[in-house]
Amino acid sequence: MTRHFISLADAGGPAVAAMIDDALGRKAARAGWPKGRPDADAPLAGRVLAMIFEKSSTRTRVSFDMAMRQLGGSAIVMEAGSMQLGRGETVADTARVLSRMVDAIMIRTDDHAKIEELAHHAGVPVINGLTDLSHPCQIMADLLTIIERGHALPGLQLAWLGDGNNVLHSLIEAAGLMQFTVRVGGPAGYEPDMAFVERARAAGGEVILTRNPREAVAGAQVVVTDCWVSMGQAGGDARVAAMRPYQVDAALMAGAAQDAIFMHCLPAHRGEEVTDAVIDSDRSVVWDEAENRIHAQKSVLRWVFGQL
Ligand code: CP
Ligand code: NVA
Repeated sequence: MTRHFISLADAGGPAVAAMIDDALGRKAARAGWPKGRPDADAPLAGRVLAMIFEKSSTRTRVSFDMAMRQLGGSAIVMEAGSMQLGRGETVADTARVLSRMVDAIMIRTDDHAKIEELAHHAGVPVINGLTDLSHPCQIMADLLTIIERGHALPGLQLAWLGDGNNVLHSLIEAAGLMQFTVRVGGPAGYEPDMAFVERARAAGGEVILTRNPREAVAGAQVVVTDCWVSMGQAGGDARVAAMRPYQVDAALMAGAAQDAIFMHCLPAHRGEEVTDAVIDSDRSVVWDEAENRIHAQKSVLRWVFGQL
């Protein structure tokens, strides 16, 4: 069975934990090395990852490329608009062709149905590099960052402020798999998809939805936000107006646990969802979080290839 990583649930809680352990070990083993030097065991030597981008990316693009280099393999980066896919070649045919040429495919797409179709027709692993629905690779890096800061996942109290978007969906999925609490503070009409909330609750995670930003952060060990207007979303002005009360500023952070950390998948819209004073403070772990995209994704890649 080809292993795909389209959602965290494709792997399940034990495999997510195993990937994070692997990432911690590999990160420590190469501390201080030049960033492009392969790991000593080069476990993906000879393997090639094709990446398809229908939307902009800095972190996902560079971190997957560096992850493949560090694992001893290589990557091909393609913009969908310059592929035949952009001129109407079907997703299914693209999947069939790439599966004959490369060992795995990562896609960032506007439409979650496309990644499912790609995986359905691909004979090689397909990895979700963000869709309109979810962003599981980001949450793998976030879980790694939280654990590095000394927190255990079971019982963790995490607050999310703002839009009920793709990143939050994967975070809620993680809450179910890893048994932690997410308190979502956001405006009416911008809630996360309740299917994610219900699945996480059924799996034993706690998901609390509130309109009160102070209630969301009260006592939280981790405070997370993201942009108010995601790529491809309409209604910018109305969204921004509705989100204003949920800005993470120093006063809101003061209501979280005393040593609470601040996280953001980036790119940040400074002055909107977060103030400079918070993102540039010593509570902020956003640069570790960005670097950890490499380390976490190396372990995701090893997992889809059956090495974990
Ligand atoms: N966090 C994240 O996915 O960043 P990019 O959009 O730059 O890839
Ligand atoms: N929610 C954001 C995440 C960007 C990494 C978006 O989809 O634009």
